[in-house]
Amino acid sequence: MLRARAIPVARVAVSGTRRVGLASYSTNLGVPSSSTTTTTTTTRGMSTTTSGSESLYEFGQRHVTNGLGRITQGIMTKGEGSYVFYDDGRKMLDFTCGIGVTNLGHVNHRVSTAAAEQCMKIVHAQCSIAMHEPYLRLIERLLPIMPDPSLDSFFFWNSGSEAVEAAIKMSRVITGKQNIICMQGAYHGRTFGAMAVTKSKTIYSKGVAPLMPGVFSIPYPFWHQLRLPPTTPTATLVSLCLYQLDLVLSQQSAPSDTAAILVEPVLGEGGYVPAPAEFLQGLRTLCDKHGILLIIDEVQSGFGRTGRYFSITESGVRPDILTIAKGLGNGFPISGVVSRKELTDKLTPGTLGGTYAGNAVSCAAAVAVADVMREEKILDNVQARSKELFASLKSLQSDSTVGRFILDVRGRGLMVGVEFAAPPGPEREHDVAVQEGVPKDMATRIAKKCIEKGMLILTTSVYEVIRFIPPLNVSAEDMKKGTKIFEEAVREVVKEG
Ligand SMILES: Cc1ncc(COP(=O)(O)O)c(C=O)c1O
Repeated sequence: MLRARAIPVARVAVSGTRRVGLASYSTNLGVPSSSTTTTTTTTRGMSTTTSGSESLYEFGQRHVTNGLGRITQGIMTKGEGSYVFYDDGRKMLDFTCGIGVTNLGHVNHRVSTAAAEQCMKIVHAQCSIAMHEPYLRLIERLLPIMPDPSLDSFFFWNSGSEAVEAAIKMSRVITGKQNIICMQGAYHGRTFGAMAVTKSKTIYSKGVAPLMPGVFSIPYPFWHQLRLPPTTPTATLVSLCLYQLDLVLSQQSAPSDTAAILVEPVLGEGGYVPAPAEFLQGLRTLCDKHGILLIIDEVQSGFGRTGRYFSITESGVRPDILTIAKGLGNGFPISGVVSRKELTDKLTPGTLGGTYAGNAVSCAAAVAVADVMREEKILDNVQARSKELFASLKSLQSDSTVGRFILDVRGRGLMVGVEFAAPPGPEREHDVAVQEGVPKDMATRIAKKCIEKGMLILTTSVYEVIRFIPPLNVSAEDMKKGTKIFEEAVREVVKEG
């Protein structure tokens, strides 16, 4: 009964979209043209519960846990390329990619086809029962693009958090040491180990203690964290942070107790800040000196997001353990923990595993992702669109009306952050980003306006930062459209004050 209703409702929604004036997008999105459609409904197709007594959205509001936050209202029914559709007819340009996941666009034909074909062969070839082909084909695809040839031993799981859990566990078992040093502003997930090394916002662990012990943190080379201006030379930021690391290793966590240093090469939830190469190289040197493992978390920055397969390659630094997820499956849940055989041979069989770990359908999808990335030269598109995005944002930053509110435009490839100034306030007494006469909550208000104008976009960090995470295969036309919406939103918020 439920299935019988659900399908026509989605069709009506698309039809409704066309009827409210978005027909110009129908061709490139594959939506039936008006001459071929047979649906003549004049409703906008909002879904109702099977009893029809209330909207499905209201039903969701009552029954979906309050622990989940959400940036839009309504029900998302369809995705196609750089766009998503809602059941009330809204069509939105998606510059969130479901938080950096649908990098090849929604319902990428080759990826979905590979998954569908795998569905008809075997769905659950459990990894502790047997090996399966998509798992091994995926390793074949990943080996040549690893940031270092030493990374040759793979374990696939479902989510980024799980990959981080596995990396922590492996580093402790392999080194026989306990402590983990992570970064201020880092985000590694919401499970218990990952939550303990997450330092981007208190909301993730507030009221949940005791957290996993043995965790220490140092500042990330981000001007804001160090209370320095955005113009601070890289060398200064790097030396301040590496000095803090020296202090942690001499005052809090002896090298002989320290299993790993965990770092995102581009801080994600902490504000979209690329780490300078010198910082990552400094971490590598210290790890080598003290027999500490270097865990590089590329869950968000990996798989082409920054214009390279892995952001860490820019620094030439070799990870001991690499965590990957998100874009790897383009929406099919899969994560990976990659290390060197010499290290993983120290693990006892059975130490790693999980009912759904390395699911065959997700692995088949990931193989297709790797093929599309290579064959369709996606990295070239990232470079081209990145130039356009930076040019547009930098031009806004030098604008005589709104430019003074934009403190920083930063990032790599299509992982780009724009940081705005903030007005003085009790919680910002020591904040270097504070300026008199600046509108309140700029990032949140701009993101909200973008959504009203038809583009999904996210904020990030405890600062006023908007993050751009468009699809890696976004067209020049859609990039232009997105930056235009953003510019309008910025101008309106500045005008409103
Ligand atoms: C760098 C990083 N690590 C780990 C995670 C956790 O991944 P997941 O949400 O798949 O558990 C995220 C998620 O945003 C992330 O950005």
